[in-house]
Amino acid sequence: MDEVRQEEQKGAAKPEDAPTTAAEKPAPTATRPRPIPKRQAVAAESSGDGAAPSAPPAPAEPAPHPLLIREQELKLQRRRFLRRLTWGSIFTFLGGWAVAAARFFFPRALFEPPTVFKAGFPSEYTIGRVETKYQQSHRVWIVREADGFYAILAKCTHLGCTPVWIEAENKFKCPCHGSGFTREAINYEGPAPRPLERVKITLAEDGQILIDTSVVFRYERGEWDKPGAYLKV
Ligand code: FES
Repeated sequence: MDEVRQEEQKGAAKPEDAPTTAAEKPAPTATRPRPIPKRQAVAAESSGDGAAPSAPPAPAEPAPHPLLIREQELKLQRRRFLRRLTWGSIFTFLGGWAVAAARFFFPRALFEPPTVFKAGFPSEYTIGRVETKYQQSHRVWIVREADGFYAILAKCTHLGCTPVWIEAENKFKCPCHGSGFTREAINYEGPAPRPLERVKITLAEDGQILIDTSVVFRYERGEWDKPGAYLKV
C-alpha cells in the first residue's frame, strides 16, 4: 500500500505529464492590441512618436503668372458687365411695358375750356382796343367799339390756325398761309374763303360780359345782325 501511495504522490508532482483539456487551459494573459484611430496615428507621425517615418512635404505650387491673373480679372469684369447689361435690358423693357399699360388704362384726355365764361365788366375795356387776353384760354378776342362789343373766334376760316392781332397794322394775320382779316373780322387777303366767325356776347346778371363760344354768327349768312352777335352798352 505504501508503494502505491508513493506512486500517486509522484504523479501529482509532475502535472506536465497529465493530459490537458480545453476547459483546463489557462486564460491568455496578453490582450490583443487595439487599432489606433487614424487621427491619433497622424498626430503621432507628425510629432515623431510614431514608428512609421513621416512623408516628405509636398512641393509648393508655383505662383500664377501676373498675366494669367489679369486675364481672370478681365473675364470677371466682362461677366459682371454682361450681367448688368442683361438686367438693365430687362428692367427697361418692363418699365416701357408698364408705361404703355398705364397709357392704355389712363388715356390722355383732351380738356376743352368751358364754352361759357365771364370776361369782366364793360368799364374795364378801352374803346377802340382789341382785347387779346382770352386768346390762349378761350380762343376769343373781344373788340370794344364806341357803342358796344363783339367777340371774334380766333380760328382761321382757311384751315383753322390761330391768327394773331397786329395792333400796328390794325389787322388779324394768320401765320399759317398769310390770310389777313380786318378788325371787324372780314377777310381781305390770303386763302381764307370767308370772314372770321363771331361768338355770342351778352351781359350776365352781375353786369359782367358773358361769352358763349358754342353759339357762332357767320357774316356770309347775315347773322352778325342777330341778337347776341353784338352787345350794345
Ligand atoms: S390756316 Fe390761316 S391762312 Fe391757312
